[in-house]
Amino acid sequence: MTQDPSSASVQADLERLLPLLQPRLLALFEGGEAPRLGEAMRYSLEAGGKRVRPVLCILASESVGGHAEDALPCALALELVHTYSLIHDDLPAMDDDDLRRGRPTSHKVFGEGCAILAGDGLLTEAFRVLAREGRLTDPRRVETAALLAEAAGWRGMAGGQALDLESEGGEFGLDHLQLIHRLKTGALIRAALEMGGVAGGASETHRKALRDAGAALGLAFQIQDDILDATSTAEQMGKRVGKDEGRGKITYPALLGLAGARSALRSATENALCLLQPLPNPGPLSGWARFLAERIA
Ligand code: IPE
Ligand code: IPE
Ligand code: MG
Ligand code: MG
Ligand code: MG
Repeated sequence: MTQDPSSASVQADLERLLPLLQPRLLALFEGGEAPRLGEAMRYSLEAGGKRVRPVLCILASESVGGHAEDALPCALALELVHTYSLIHDDLPAMDDDDLRRGRPTSHKVFGEGCAILAGDGLLTEAFRVLAREGRLTDPRRVETAALLAEAAGWRGMAGGQALDLESEGGEFGLDHLQLIHRLKTGALIRAALEMGGVAGGASETHRKALRDAGAALGLAFQIQDDILDATSTAEQMGKRVGKDEGRGKITYPALLGLAGARSALRSATENALCLLQPLPNPGPLSGWARFLAERIA
């Protein structure tokens, strides 16, 4: 590991939280009466992924005095929704990608019909988990489910994905790009922090701080994803790179150049760090905000 303290604390968070998340995620799709569909859902989940959203959700809960267990159903639900979004994002009708999380994409292995259904299955399982698993009180279950639905649906991620597709090859400015990024990626990361806050019993003020910080962090995350598409390798990323330009995607590097994109990334990250400050325990989330801005995968 490097000497960077934020990256050492990120490693420690991962060592503590991944054992909590991984077995529970995979256990959701054991058995069942449609084994091939179950296999397809496990295939995309077990391929890895950084687990950024569930970890941020648990850390958000802990940042306001909650316990990891409180936020666990939210954390699992977020990773299920995110994994669904990746499977659908890679479909030929969307970004048409053949590599994800270091493996051939779901539709390449299982066919398009099964990949679409794997996405459907993951998305709906997320809400079953939120409704039934763990130890959330009923009001917190309802509130976190509403937040997830808002963030995943047409008011959030699905809406952003639609704008992303409609905008391919078009001439748009920074406001439109920010809108796309805020919806397609920002909304789910914002929800990760806010759901964690609700699960952990945040006050209204702290909940708002988490929501706003999550939105800034989500924007930063997609700016870095755009930068990495232009600068990284498939080996590092576990997915194809250099594809945004080819598809005429509207991205930060396309609009502002690499230096401009890096400066936008820095300001979104600084913004997130400022917004986290008033929380009772902002340290771990701040460490992740710094780490994500410097990530290379
Ligand atoms: C990729 O998300 C898609 C975006 C929203 C940018 P991640 O970079 O979190 O992908 P995994 O989960 O690590 O595979
Ligand atoms: C995806 O954005 C956002 C999602 C909601 C999945 P990208 O299309 O840039 O994500 P990657 O680069 O394929 O992971
Ligand atoms: Mg896409
Ligand atoms: Mg894509
Ligand atoms: Mg991308």
